Amino acid sequence: MRTIMYALCGLVLLLGVSTVFSSCTSQTPIHTVSSPNRNVRVDFGLDTIGQPFYQVWYDGQFVIQKSDMGFVLTGGKTLNSRFTLVNKTENHVDEVWENYWGQRQYIRNNYSEAVYSLRHDLGTLKVFFRVYDDGLGFRYELEANNGQEITIADESTSFNVAPDAQSWWIPVDDDSYEKFYEHTTVAAIDSIQTPFTLEMSEDLYVCIHEAALIDFPSMTLKKGKNGQLRSRLVPSSKGSVYKGGERVTSPWRTITIGRRAVDLINSNIIENLNEAPQHDFSWVKPLKYMGIWWEMHLGLKSWSPGDKHGATTAHAKEMIDFAAANNMNGLLVEGWNKGWEAWKDFDYCQPYPDYDLEAVVKYGQSKGVDIIIHNETAGYVKEYEKQIPEAFDYYQKLGIKYIKTGYVGPIKNGEPHHGQYMVNHYQYVLEEAAKRGICIMGHEHIKPTGLHRTWPNLLAVESARGQEYNAPWAPENNPVDHTLILPFTRLMGGPMDYTPGLFDLTYAQHGIKDKRAYSTLAHQLALYVVYPGPAQMACDLPQNYTGHPAFEFIKQVPVNWSKSIYLDGEIGQYLVVARKSRENDSWYLGALNGEEERRVEIPLSFLDSNCHYEATLYKDGEMTNWQHNPQGVLIDHQKVDHNSILSLKLAAGGGCAITLMPCKD
Ligand code: NOJ
Ligand code: CA
Repeated sequence: MRTIMYALCGLVLLLGVSTVFSSCTSQTPIHTVSSPNRNVRVDFGLDTIGQPFYQVWYDGQFVIQKSDMGFVLTGGKTLNSRFTLVNKTENHVDEVWENYWGQRQYIRNNYSEAVYSLRHDLGTLKVFFRVYDDGLGFRYELEANNGQEITIADESTSFNVAPDAQSWWIPVDDDSYEKFYEHTTVAAIDSIQTPFTLEMSEDLYVCIHEAALIDFPSMTLKKGKNGQLRSRLVPSSKGSVYKGGERVTSPWRTITIGRRAVDLINSNIIENLNEAPQHDFSWVKPLKYMGIWWEMHLGLKSWSPGDKHGATTAHAKEMIDFAAANNMNGLLVEGWNKGWEAWKDFDYCQPYPDYDLEAVVKYGQSKGVDIIIHNETAGYVKEYEKQIPEAFDYYQKLGIKYIKTGYVGPIKNGEPHHGQYMVNHYQYVLEEAAKRGICIMGHEHIKPTGLHRTWPNLLAVESARGQEYNAPWAPENNPVDHTLILPFTRLMGGPMDYTPGLFDLTYAQHGIKDKRAYSTLAHQLALYVVYPGPAQMACDLPQNYTGHPAFEFIKQVPVNWSKSIYLDGEIGQYLVVARKSRENDSWYLGALNGEEERRVEIPLSFLDSNCHYEATLYKDGEMTNWQHNPQGVLIDHQKVDHNSILSLKLAAGGGCAITLMPCKD
């Protein structure tokens, strides 16, 4: 956090928090805390057996009905009854903070807080609620009596949501988020991973996730016997889910709420619930990058050495030249280090003989192109950890500023990808990198929970099916609506290294049949605006960009924004976003479309009122959709201002990307 513009912390609010006696449980008081504008109300209480519960309202409508709270410790000791309330404090915070990169440069953090301290034979439990106008977070702080070590067997937080609500989710797999999204009622769910998004009615949307996942297992949700969704923490290989000291602080459990689907993604709750950075991160530089990457996924080049080896010195220099000539400042090189043939015994300092790492890095630096060094672990995490201090020191000495990590396959010591052990591993990598001025892009990584606020060197992670699943090796490519579900689900936690920018969508030129991207070229361009993130790839091969007029858009589009407004959209169907560059006064607009062709009317009232703009529109061609002529793109120019309304036809699987440059006159 560079500047706190104004802060009103620590003010005890007497209005906004109240205590009443519940009519249904006549003995037990219900304590209420409301958001600053009173749209969101959270009730908390202890029921007649001393079990904590909460319930959430939005503008008088139930969002979460009475739901249990608590924990189960190892040995079957339950921490979900026989509590007494010993103290309650209230607080209100209204501050604005500035980030190094992001969708918005200044973020308002405005909430009402209530902290309930509960006593139990086994220890004390504090429950913190922070209630915003667009949702809430709550977290637990648990302290055992007599300083005993706490080992948690499970968490008993329920999310009692209406069974007939529509929802978008991926099923539980403690090792992977690379799944197809399901769209069902809540009643049809067995277990899900978060972010989990619901449409409760025409004007009530909700997303359940977590924030600040640190030294704790990831939370999934499972249907309990009573039909309610209940937290299930990812277990360790040894059975227990959490092992810690005498005090445990859980991540925040977040519930984002809005009237429209886009309200969910206009929310800043998840970042706000993470801590401000403790160090200077002004050295973190957002980047647009290319890669010795897609050619391997197409099967044209190989990660391992041989005739088709991708990571050669000559090829890397060629790619650096192309990147430098086209306004890109990064190059990812995969398959550069010993270990790929055997898919084990990776050496993170030892390049293959045909790749002169030091010469490539220097050449890149001379052209303003940073090398993103790839560290694939294939799940050999212990072996990776052993090499990290030496390897990261070496990278720092060479001036390498970006590492892409990878964790393909099971973690070899038996720990799940999403348990406490691996959560701590990802954190270790992040912190070791930060010490040396290095940024991280993680694949097969833990889902994002807004930690990039505290650690801005965490640029983007994968943690979902990315564009790589449009490759010929994928048994099934990503469905058309996939890119329209991700913003409302996976992207709620933070930026994704989705790797947009395919111009060749069918691979017919390589004789590849039956595998393709279910998208038009204009859809690929729109992804740069719709998916925010400080590291964006132009994933295709230089030959598909050379001489293509639409490449101009990728060259121009910023990766860091001062303002972002999600204007309109429906989950899985379409999404329209406007963003203002952090560099200058230009605006960009992205419209992404799903399976149904549609027309959208977009008022440009977000534009500065004292300025005219030259709009350049990259639209789907007349006869274009994801199936037919997907590469068809029309480039149009218009003069617009804040009174203009754009009417855009979006093809099936299509989109539109627009630059809005202030006119000089
Ligand atoms: C999976 C990653 O998502 C992809 O980007 C990478 O190229 C391969 N693993 C190889 O490490
Ligand atoms: Ca992957």
